[in-house]
Amino acid sequence: MKQIFLILFSFFFVISSVFSQTDAGTEKKIQQLIKKMTLAEKVGMLHANSKFYTAGVRRLGIPEWSLSDGPHGVRAEINRDNWQYAGWTNDSSTCFPPGTAMAATWNLDLTRQRGYVLGEEARFRKKDVLLGPGINIIRSPLCGRNFEYMSEDPFLISQLTVAYIKALQTKDVAASVKHYLANNQEENRFTIDAYMSERALREIYLPGFKAAIVDGGALTVMGAYNKFRGEWCTENFYLGRTILRDEFKFKGVYMTDWDAAHSTVKAALAGLDLEMGTNKSNYNDWFFANPLIKAVNDGKLKESLVDEKVANILRVMFKTNVFDPKNRVKGSINTPEHQQAAYRSAVEAIVLLKNENELLPLNIPALKSIAVIGDNATRTHCGGGLSSEIKTLYEVTPLQAFTQKLGKDLKINFAQGYNKQSSFFEGSSKGQLNSDSIDWKLIDEAVVQAKKSDVAVVFAGLNHDFDTESFDRIHMRLPYGQEKLIQEVTKANPKTIVVIIAGSPLELSGIVHRVPALVWAWYGGMEAGNAVCDVLIGNQFPSGKLPFTMPVTLNQSPAHALGNFSGCDLKTTYEEDILVGYRWFEAKGIEPLYPFGYGLSYTTFDIANASTDKKEYSKEDEVIVNLTLENSGKRAGAEVIQLYASETACSVMRPKKELKAFQKVFLQAGEKKLVALKVKISELAYYSEKTNTWVVEPGEFVLHIGTSSNDIRKSLQVMVK
Ligand code: BGC
Repeated sequence: MKQIFLILFSFFFVISSVFSQTDAGTEKKIQQLIKKMTLAEKVGMLHANSKFYTAGVRRLGIPEWSLSDGPHGVRAEINRDNWQYAGWTNDSSTCFPPGTAMAATWNLDLTRQRGYVLGEEARFRKKDVLLGPGINIIRSPLCGRNFEYMSEDPFLISQLTVAYIKALQTKDVAASVKHYLANNQEENRFTIDAYMSERALREIYLPGFKAAIVDGGALTVMGAYNKFRGEWCTENFYLGRTILRDEFKFKGVYMTDWDAAHSTVKAALAGLDLEMGTNKSNYNDWFFANPLIKAVNDGKLKESLVDEKVANILRVMFKTNVFDPKNRVKGSINTPEHQQAAYRSAVEAIVLLKNENELLPLNIPALKSIAVIGDNATRTHCGGGLSSEIKTLYEVTPLQAFTQKLGKDLKINFAQGYNKQSSFFEGSSKGQLNSDSIDWKLIDEAVVQAKKSDVAVVFAGLNHDFDTESFDRIHMRLPYGQEKLIQEVTKANPKTIVVIIAGSPLELSGIVHRVPALVWAWYGGMEAGNAVCDVLIGNQFPSGKLPFTMPVTLNQSPAHALGNFSGCDLKTTYEEDILVGYRWFEAKGIEPLYPFGYGLSYTTFDIANASTDKKEYSKEDEVIVNLTLENSGKRAGAEVIQLYASETACSVMRPKKELKAFQKVFLQAGEKKLVALKVKISELAYYSEKTNTWVVEPGEFVLHIGTSSNDIRKSLQVMVK
């Protein structure tokens, strides 16, 4: 079924225009256009003329440019001059599961499908730039935007980002990789100053952006709100010029986040092209408006610098076929194929964390009743989270899916279980306060339903009062007295399955040893309910893997262990350095609740005959690891083979393991497949702060092959000359 779908899908999407590099001819056209423009016209293109549009030059055939959020769906239309929704009736769209869920699929084909769909839908809405993906590293479990981001691991982020951007941009829509850089917290995001070592920058925080630009060809980059090493990101010469333009050879548009500009001359010199979202009602007062014209007229900036910025915008316009409307992708929206892609994405994201006595998948013919419990059984989430919120065409809740799929054959006993006690205050985490009370009446009602049912499923977790842009969580616990609810329901019915709906780590120690089955279903987008129901009843199998480490307690995780989250006096120093996520847990010998890359299946997998193609490699070589993967259980399933590298002895500290390759493999029961994983020796390098270069020291490296970061089935030694 899956294969048929993939074939159909690729057929469906071949009719897309090909992303092409600009050639000398195009560069000439760009220069010709610029020559015809007045300074005012040029500057008019370098700042917004409304919330999400920038001006063109009509007399020269340069249209307005239309930008839109966001990373997992095309956001509904917002009024030009205020933040209210425009109230259109044709701007509902497909909503995918957000970033951490996308990463949990570990499936690059699905990631590409998402890119194609979002590109199609953005074009249908006549958008030129889609503001995503958000790829900041998950540094703390508490960051409010973790759900939008992807992972704690730069390699996983890079792979997903490249797949997403390349696919999206085939649809004549520019991606905007964000938020460059170090926007790893929402607390004080407009003012915080982030400090990290050059090595941490190069090895952890930059690789995703580099991959997006160099390998993915991202056409635009969004500068973060915060400061980096003392200077605002949007006017930071090192970030904007040295790295982005000189090292990465970025020829696209470097824009601000919405209201992240702070200067005219400094930002212009630092490589910023486009000012968006500044909080001044007269657009002419913006930094890249009249003050920019004045700076040129006063001789503080050369007009050629303005030309360079206009050229960057025109280049992206050419690359996305803005000047060739006839041949530009027209787009489509809310097609069954798009919805199916959202469904697959939700299914494959689901991580099975615990499954005692094979309680899952539920044996439906043997059941007469199911208790469905919890606020998250009926809550919709697509419309939350702030800038990534989606006005989705529909969103199926878990209770709706259970009722629709099973309601005829068995009794569904619903109980609310707990109430959402938090509320959402823009710009503040205050709304999370006082949301820990236990509602015994609701618990008692849930216990009654659980007792009279054959099994109980509790839909627990968070919502976008917690997982949201603009502020961080204030703790890592399950709110609303859910722990107590789950404990009581499990006592009432030992066959209790807990499904967590959340986009970032949670403290689960109060429930994990009490419940027989635990499933992490993320925010599942528009098809959330269908996906989770199908996995629980065995129509689909779980195949997701955690894209972050699940700590037992918050203070296990590096930034919190060191007391440097969320900073002090508006300064945050990344003292954990390169030891982010599992790199920290492994280096310090800390046992997390669940490790990075973890996730069970309804079947079992064996890895055999793992070997490298050679024993000794030179620095230019690529290692090929071959192995046989066998589905040794009785059901179909998918395993994500993960390859981690380590260096036996090195002149600098290195993590015990670092992800360097992975592959998701689908197998029928009893089926075997040969799998080849490739790692370039150059990818085994560390960043030397002595020489400011990447260094591969000759010697022994070990390649660990496994099914999570701590379930290593085979370790292979290789020598590098
Ligand atoms: C967010 C961006 C978003 C922009 C436009 C900002 O607050 O940080 O991610 O793209 O708003 O909505």
